[in-house]
Amino acid sequence: MEHIHITTVNKKEQYVEVYHQLKTILDGEKDIIARMATICGAIKEAFNFYWIGFYRVDGDELVVGPYIGTLACLRIKKGKGVCGTAWKNEQTIIVKNVDEFPGHIACSSESKSEIVVPVFKDNQIIAVLDIDSTEYNTFDEIDKEGLERIVTLV
Ligand code: SME
Repeated sequence: MEHIHITTVNKKEQYVEVYHQLKTILDGEKDIIARMATICGAIKEAFNFYWIGFYRVDGDELVVGPYIGTLACLRIKKGKGVCGTAWKNEQTIIVKNVDEFPGHIACSSESKSEIVVPVFKDNQIIAVLDIDSTEYNTFDEIDKEGLERIVTLV
């Protein structure tokens, strides 16, 4: 198995590099769980975020999918938490401080900031990518752009 090799230090370039490496690694792989798991692994290797994972749409709920991190809640209703809100609003949400997001679901008290990116297939949301950080203010527009591009590889 190839490893993700990050040779750049600039965050924007790092995202471009991870995208291209994932594109090569995932080429020809049809299994969505394998794709999601590999995307989590690549993001972990590149950025070492605290919690990285997918929640998949299952009826009117999200159900946890492949993730790297501590144990997380299994199901989230549409409109609930950051994940359910990103799904309902059909857009990425950046939370600089989880204590200031009404209805934030705290799977771990370690999480201080978070980004949730919807995954679209044929104009429908099929999942969200959720990433948590143990620091405040971790995520910005560069993470949003980089991750929105990466989730097109799901
Ligand atoms: N914080 C999320 C729940 C999932 S965990 O962070 C892994 C939310 O509010 O939707």
